[in-house]
Amino acid sequence: MRKFGKLIAGAALTAVFSGGVPAADQAALARAEEIVGGRCFLCHGLEGESASPVFPRLAGQHADYIAKQLADFKSGKRKSDTMAPQVEELTPAEMKAIGLFFQTKEIGGRPLKDGELVAVGKFIFNRGNQFSGLPSCASCHGPKGLGTPQLPRLAGQHPRYIEDQIKQFNKRERTNDNAVMHTVASKLSELETHAVAEYIATLE
Ligand code: HEC
Ligand code: HEC
Repeated sequence: MRKFGKLIAGAALTAVFSGGVPAADQAALARAEEIVGGRCFLCHGLEGESASPVFPRLAGQHADYIAKQLADFKSGKRKSDTMAPQVEELTPAEMKAIGLFFQTKEIGGRPLKDGELVAVGKFIFNRGNQFSGLPSCASCHGPKGLGTPQLPRLAGQHPRYIEDQIKQFNKRERTNDNAVMHTVASKLSELETHAVAEYIATLE
């Protein structure tokens, strides 16, 4: 009898915690998988791994951040000719589900290519630049670039996407919630931008 009780408790636990996702979210996740498998995968990959450097990797990104970006693409607050038609028909519940779907995926860091450049990037990331008043990226995005539910994960992202977003923040082309990142981007030199993006790609 005791063993039976344990089994039930075990099964319930598995149902609640399988993959770290509560049972109530399983149906939503199935819907997210359907949407991702239907079209998002073409650019972002089935697991959010995004094989092409122009498309951001979504694996391991925070669910709330993803849902917010999708809502911003839909409202036009964040402009992207590519993403606008993708989100047109998504409901808030689907956006949340898609966020959860990608959050559970694993992303690995990339091996470093140019050690000297990566070292410059690591310094900028952890220490900023006191001469230009650039704050460290780590102070907001975390020492490993893992972010928080409100702040994007950067670790393992394609360098080209990171550089592109920094340029967009700087030119005020990315205007959703850009108060902070506009200031950061305006203080980064081209070398620092390139170096920090290369360093971010090595984080996991
Ligand atoms: C044709 C290629 C393409 C398809 C299909 C596509 N995306 Fe995107 N996605 C992009 C590009 C390009 C960007 C970067 C936009 C920018 O420059 O701001 C992006 C950005 C995003 C971002 C923001 C990432 C971040 O780190 O801020 C999210 C979230 C996202 N896409 C989710 C989706 C979802 C969900 C779908 C399917 C419903 C989808 N995308 C389909 C190309 C695509
Ligand atoms: C004071 C806090 C703060 C600091 C310091 C900071 N960031 Fe950010 N960063 C943010 C916030 C907040 C966002 C999310 C903006 C949004 O929601 O659209 C963001 C977004 C980003 C994005 C877009 C990510 C994506 O997935 O689209 C990049 C790239 C980025 N930051 C890089 C950096 C780099 C590199 C540094 C250091 C040189 C840095 N940030 C320093 C707060 C910060």
